[in-house]
Amino acid sequence: MTSPNSPHPLYFRQLLAGRDFAVDNPVAAQMMNFAYLVGDADTRECLLVDPAWDVDSLVKLAQSDDLKVIGALGSHYHPDHLGGEMMGYSVEGARRLLELLPVKIHVQEKEVPWVKRVTGLADSDLAAHAGGDILKVGKIPIQFVHTPGHTEGSTCFLVGGDRLVAGDTLFVGSCGRVDLPGSDPEEMYRSLTQRLAKLPDDVTLYPGHDYGDSPTSTLGAQRLTNYAMKVPTLQLWLEMMGHA
Ligand SMILES: [Fe+2]
Repeated sequence: MTSPNSPHPLYFRQLLAGRDFAVDNPVAAQMMNFAYLVGDADTRECLLVDPAWDVDSLVKLAQSDDLKVIGALGSHYHPDHLGGEMMGYSVEGARRLLELLPVKIHVQEKEVPWVKRVTGLADSDLAAHAGGDILKVGKIPIQFVHTPGHTEGSTCFLVGGDRLVAGDTLFVGSCGRVDLPGSDPEEMYRSLTQRLAKLPDDVTLYPGHDYGDSPTSTLGAQRLTNYAMKVPTLQLWLEMMGHA
């Protein structure tokens, strides 16, 4: 959980819905969402990434490691990441976290209206960030990498410079859908082939769902094997996505 080789005293946990939290919830298990705890092992503070499905258990998991939850990060507005109504099913999420703790939900600024609509949160519950912003938890820097495409304000979080918590932008072996409200296939192409291209090969990918043949990968491996990162032209990409 901590990284002995990192210059920062990182605390980091990848948690799978239906297995590590929301246990015995078949809908959560089917959705295969990952949530993350990202914190400073020295100060014992952490942020919850994409709190949904079973927020009480996520907070308890942090507390069981003697970590205090001081806020949350939202990769995008979808109910399986921040709570809300999803196909007639009500998913617990950020609102439950705010009932438990007086914290802020940090999201990309373009995602704010979407998050408010789906979760029912108010502006005062949210902290809006631009791409490039750096939020610190203890001494651990977390950079907002704005990667529109799946949604307008989808964001990845670069933790400590070498871990990318990617939401539904990039999965192991695939990428997020681009046919949903707020999606933009052209922007997704730019996010996958340009915006994320600025990050080095040895960055570890931590996706928002367990859709691949492994729970994590590296950006270098994905550039070699993930079809979504290998499409040579925007035109071909749009044809693949059915938008040409
Ligand atoms: Fe999503």
